[in-house]
Amino acid sequence: MTIDIARLRADTPACEQQIFFNSAGSSLMPNPVYRAVLDHLALEQRIGGYAAEDDSEAVLEDFYDAFATLLNCERSEIAYVENATRAWDMAFYSLPLKEGDRILTAEAEYVSNFLAFLHQARRRGIEVDVAPSDASGQLDVDAMERLITPRTRLIAMTHVPTQGGLVNPAEDVGRIARRHGITYLLDACQSVGQMPLDVQKIGCHLLSGTGRKFLRGPRGTGFLYVSKEILDQLDPPFIDLHAATWTDARSFDIRPDARRFENWESFVAGRVGLRAAVRYALEVGLDQICARVSMLADRLRASLSELPGVTVRDLGRVRSGIVTFTKDGEAPRDIQARLRAANIAVSVSSKTSAQLDFGRRGLSQVVRASVHYFNTEDEIEVFCDRLRGAR
Ligand SMILES: Cc1ncc(COP(=O)(O)O)c(C=O)c1O
Repeated sequence: MTIDIARLRADTPACEQQIFFNSAGSSLMPNPVYRAVLDHLALEQRIGGYAAEDDSEAVLEDFYDAFATLLNCERSEIAYVENATRAWDMAFYSLPLKEGDRILTAEAEYVSNFLAFLHQARRRGIEVDVAPSDASGQLDVDAMERLITPRTRLIAMTHVPTQGGLVNPAEDVGRIARRHGITYLLDACQSVGQMPLDVQKIGCHLLSGTGRKFLRGPRGTGFLYVSKEILDQLDPPFIDLHAATWTDARSFDIRPDARRFENWESFVAGRVGLRAAVRYALEVGLDQICARVSMLADRLRASLSELPGVTVRDLGRVRSGIVTFTKDGEAPRDIQARLRAANIAVSVSSKTSAQLDFGRRGLSQVVRASVHYFNTEDEIEVFCDRLRGAR
């Protein structure tokens, strides 16, 4: 089955007004997602938030089924969390880590995750080991395995980093995590929605993601997958009356499913919207999405590398829809501003978000142009002309 680009672009009217290469930042919602959010807000305005939630029960319950299909897991293994960082934090801070325990991660780990490692290192005396990258720039899986010690309690890795086109070998890491019986937390914030993700194949115990990027959901939405294999070992850093039940004056029971990581109060219209975004992505088809995103990103990289003074900065053997580059004599922020004035959306990644990766490569900033399936080859051509300064 092929993707009907005309129909999908018609669902996203804003892509006719601009060249939108920032789905890694915050993508454009398709009409069905946008309408789902607005319809729910309208219902809240009409009958109040609680009644609106009751009336939307079937849709809200389908949130869990939609994610279970997307990730190939059970609905009880999914939690709604307000963003990827909190989802990841809920998982990380619920692990029973103690002084001397070791965490194993990779050079392209997401900034907030690494900050949490440093936070726990300072607070609890845990140690952080960083596996090196191989010659291609992806995580070196053999080197990672050699770094495993009897005190290694967690392997945490970012699947697709925010600051480059690399796709880390998530399944290979899953195999070593399973072989050594170590908990595996995968940050799939940039991969979910642009490629198929199967938690059984990946072998991760925990996986976090956000709504607004390649899934094209609303802002302020995210999710966490928690394998039922390890759920009982995870003690949420905080609980409320949704995560737990106050069973007697001095006792409580924590929920037996992944919703122990949720809050009672949440952005219900956002949950409705994220559910619509997942259903939309499933309808388009993750294999088709991935094939088109790869084709467009490869084409963009090839066109960029022909431009004088432009250097494509992406690493790895397998590449995502995130394309990063620098241009001699023009700072990334200036390029971003110049393109913005020409109705072209890109973003900039900085060393403060990638100390290990950019530090090793001597980079301070790069332009990030991220394509999605609704983009076209014509847009890539116009983009490169604009970048060169021709049109
Ligand atoms: C790899 C990665 N992980 C986590 C996040 C954080 O996501 P959120 O802003 O939804 O918390 C981002 C955001 O850019 C990201 O790129």
